[in-house]
Amino acid sequence: MSISPKGSFITFEGIDGCGKSTQAKLLLDYLNDKGTSTILVREPGGTRISEEIRQVLLSTDRRELTHRTEALLMTASRAQLTDEIIIPNLEAGKIVIADRYIDSTVAYQGGGRGIDIAWLHELNQFTTDKLLPNITFFVDILPEEAARRKQTESDRIEEGGMDLQSRVREVYMSLAEKAPNRIVVMNGYESTEAIHQKIIEEINRRNIVA
Ligand code: ADP
Ligand code: TYD
Repeated sequence: MSISPKGSFITFEGIDGCGKSTQAKLLLDYLNDKGTSTILVREPGGTRISEEIRQVLLSTDRRELTHRTEALLMTASRAQLTDEIIIPNLEAGKIVIADRYIDSTVAYQGGGRGIDIAWLHELNQFTTDKLLPNITFFVDILPEEAARRKQTESDRIEEGGMDLQSRVREVYMSLAEKAPNRIVVMNGYESTEAIHQKIIEEINRRNIVA
């Protein structure tokens, strides 16, 4: 896996409801206000085709979807997004922020659904053309706290409940341990603003944004 030689690629990860979408949007506004050209994408989704795949993946009337199909559709959505949006924008020297990327597949389909993690790494490599983020922010909270914050109806994956979220979190923690240079763990219990400031500090410290 390797990073883009031109633009900067920043990803956000964590269990459902950890606060990563909030942080991704704050960072998008901050970077655009600074005069950079930054875009935000979300997964699964982010292109016409990937949004169609998202409907199949998250709709609660698709309960017959098997774990293997789920893994393939998650990564199919990512392949389309990577080819259509992420790589061209990085090639153009832009900053791309993604709300979820490769680590979600390892955490959810690996930890959550029990699919072989080494195989998921390979699948990720194929579907992203080996594109690695420059930095990943893993916003960490316990599933109990995420459930307290929850305001929306559960989608098909959230129906897996607290057990699934706990297994997902375990894998995120082990990924962060194995790749400490790429994955930065953020304490999701801090205030929105405090987390945002730490993210900016980390980005500046690493010269991720020119
Ligand atoms: P995610 O994208 O990880 O599912 P969101 O950013 O949508 O999470 O946040 C989930 C909920 O938690 C929202 O209601 C949001 O306002 C709230 N929230 C986000 N960050 C924090 C925080 N640091 N402290 C308390 N509540 C938060
Ligand atoms: P979404 O509502 O976009 O995320 P969030 O709840 O974090 O705001 O739902 C996306 C769901 O898809 C979420 O439960 C995580 C799951 N997912 C996977 O299982 N594997 C993946 O590879 C990706 C990208 C997401």
